[in-house]
Amino acid sequence: MKVLIINGPNLNMLGQREEDLYGQLTLEEINALIIKKAESIRVEVEFFQSNEEGRIVSTIQESAKDFDFIIITPAAFTHTSIAIRDALLSVKSKFIEVHLSNIFSREDFRQNSFVSSIALGVISGFGHEGYLMALDALNNIEK
Ligand code: DQA
Repeated sequence: MKVLIINGPNLNMLGQREEDLYGQLTLEEINALIIKKAESIRVEVEFFQSNEEGRIVSTIQESAKDFDFIIITPAAFTHTSIAIRDALLSVKSKFIEVHLSNIFSREDFRQNSFVSSIALGVISGFGHEGYLMALDALNNIEK
C-alpha cells in the first residue's frame, strides 16, 4: 500500500508557527515519526508540501496512478479551495483529511471544509498524532 501525504500552506513553518495550536515539532520531525510508523505497519509513504494551490492540484492529478491513498492537510486551502476539491474528485482520490488543530473549535471561517464531504474521514485536533492515526486507519480498512 502506497500513501501520499500532502501538506498545504504554512505547514513548512511548523515548530515556529503558533506552537500552542500546532505543537513544537517541525514538519521534518513529524515526517520522521510518520516514516517510523509506516515502516512498522509496512506501508510506503511519500511527502509533498507546498504553499501554492496550483502545485497541490497538479500533485493530486499526477499522484493518482502511483498511490492507493492520500492523507491531506490542505491547511488554509481547506476553507477556500474548490480547485483542490475538484482535483481530488477528478482522479477519484481516496483520502483522509487531517488537521493538527480542532478546526471546529476555532473561528467561524474554519468551520467549512470544501473537502470533508468527499473524504473517507476527517481527523482534527490531535496534533501530529492525526497523521499516524490516519495511517493506522488506512492500513486497517485495507486488511
Ligand atoms: C490547519 C487548520 C487550518 O484552518 C489552518 O489554516 C492551518 C492548519 C490545521 O492543521 O489545524 O494552516 O489545517
